[in-house]
Amino acid sequence: AGTAALAAILGYLLGTIPFGLLLTRAAGLGDVRKIGSGNIGATNVLRTGNRKLAAATLLLDALKATAAVAAARYAWGFEAGLVAGFFAFLGHLFPVWLRFRGGKGVATYIGVLLGVQPWTVLVFAAVWLGCARLTKYSSLSALVATLVIPVVLWILGEHSFALTMALMTAISWVKHKDNIKRLLAGTESKIGQKG
Ligand code: G3P
Repeated sequence: AGTAALAAILGYLLGTIPFGLLLTRAAGLGDVRKIGSGNIGATNVLRTGNRKLAAATLLLDALKATAAVAAARYAWGFEAGLVAGFFAFLGHLFPVWLRFRGGKGVATYIGVLLGVQPWTVLVFAAVWLGCARLTKYSSLSALVATLVIPVVLWILGEHSFALTMALMTAISWVKHKDNIKRLLAGTESKIGQKG
């Protein structure tokens, strides 16, 4: 139990680093929470028009979760890696530094996949890119990809990994509730649109 708690704390703290906010501020673009969807993630950073910054946000928000998984796994084993990854995701969604108002967890979700089983990122990417190509919605692509992942993992017998990801999927879906409302109303902004 002691190691699980340590893994959770390590993961949470790494997860709370809001790279989208830090990078856009450092680039002199102001507060990313005041534009577009108000989110701190890569999709909203893209709405500043700076693609490199959006890519860097995606990468760094993902890698903070990967680092949490890798460090905890190295120190305390596979299950601790899952715990650290899950808490990195929670840290991104509910960062103490931002009064618990964080992101929606798509990049950190990918980072956990990368840390636990790298090939699963290919599944996520294929579904996300396919859906994004068809619909041009970042949020919808993430909603679909995060549904597919736990199902695939479960079928392949990766039960503890599947359940961890399913829990993250459920939480991320709740965080996407405004996106879901906009998708249903037909008012969600498409990739490449600023609004
Ligand atoms: O899945 C991407 C999601 O986070 C959407 O971001 O900024 O459109 O709410 P945003």
